Amino acid sequence: MASTTQDVFAKASGHERAEQLRAAREADLLPYFRTLEGPAGPVVEMEGATRIMLGSNNYLGLTADERVIKGAADALHTFGTGLTGSRLLNGTISLHLELEAEIADWMGTQDALVTSTGAQANLTALGTLLSPGDTVVADSGDHASILDGCILSKAKLRVFRHNRIDRLQRTLEKATRDEGGILVVVDGVFSMEGDIAPLPEIADLCERFGARLMVDEAHGAGVLGARGAGASELLGVEDRVDLRMGTFSKSLASCGGFLAGTHEVIDFLRVQSRAFLFTASGVPAAVGAALAALRILRSAEGPPLLARVLDNAAYLHAGLRECGFKVVEHEGDAMTPVVPVIVGDDWKAVLLWRALYDAGVFVNVAIHPAVPPGGALLRTSVMATHDHATLDRALDAFSTVRTDFEREHGPLPA
Ligand SMILES: Cc1ncc(COP(=O)(O)O)c(C=O)c1O
Repeated sequence: MASTTQDVFAKASGHERAEQLRAAREADLLPYFRTLEGPAGPVVEMEGATRIMLGSNNYLGLTADERVIKGAADALHTFGTGLTGSRLLNGTISLHLELEAEIADWMGTQDALVTSTGAQANLTALGTLLSPGDTVVADSGDHASILDGCILSKAKLRVFRHNRIDRLQRTLEKATRDEGGILVVVDGVFSMEGDIAPLPEIADLCERFGARLMVDEAHGAGVLGARGAGASELLGVEDRVDLRMGTFSKSLASCGGFLAGTHEVIDFLRVQSRAFLFTASGVPAAVGAALAALRILRSAEGPPLLARVLDNAAYLHAGLRECGFKVVEHEGDAMTPVVPVIVGDDWKAVLLWRALYDAGVFVNVAIHPAVPPGGALLRTSVMATHDHATLDRALDAFSTVRTDFEREHGPLPA
């Protein structure tokens, strides 16, 4: 390489996190890329030990359900291991069409589109419906794939402070002075904090300012509302949300994503979206598993599962608070399966994670930039298949670890 040319790979050796990463690896403190040795059940085998799983998005616990496994196995045996092409050309099977029809029926929309991942669904919608000249208004807590879709679209991006309706209003006032159309896009349930977007107030503002509204239901679908159709259902605004996105990688126990909306918009995305058209279709087993999981959710078994996961969340939330941890509180005590414990300092969060890991509990760690600086948290999450006895054992571990941790590292937020 000519000496005057900068090496684009240079950033790989000198990035700002390199030193932290090296230190964490050396001390075996890295909370990421830990390996599971079996299914993501309430208790898992992980790196040679049995640990209570409080870090999975398998909210309904359906990844190990025999019917979901059979759905995947039947699809695998009927359609093979992969589809080796895009949905458009040679990657659509009858299961996609069945799944799209069932999702539309479940969401109460005219149509739905199945994608290979949830992130791809966000890129598909945002990268196609928005153009340079339009404005997209996003919550600062929105998922990274929403941000990526906004960037891809080259629309003007205006971000408002997380869940602040006054800030959204001010942002929309500014956006109306931009030239093109306006789309507001929010998570229904925010993935790290587990809080719910104030969708009725957001829909009011969208209507007032002539903006379209898209809701990412990745953590809401299969969790909230009587049908488990998400935050939009729970908050009674389904008919005021223009486009809904969801994923199969959480409650629906598989991998893949979807968009649900009017036939016109969904069909436009079906034939116009580069993010959708120029990538391979999800594997048949993933589609078969999602379809089987959705059918369980929509059967008489669904409501008790939904009730159980939220009951478990409330149980863990109360238990952690009793142990003295600072747990994120939600508006009106609303519960979602995500129960985050605020730690603040990045290193403290990592050390606390390790202590819990050694005590047989796996949780997720969110440090900057996944959360604002100084806002590190342990993201715990529950499944419908946890029982209170298992959660009690996890709480005992939290309690013991807290005492030892504070003795060595100083106080945790209370
Ligand atoms: C809010 C939100 N949106 C979108 C996604 C992307 O979904 P997937 O994992 O199916 O790509 C996720 C998953 O991490 C998410 O949490």
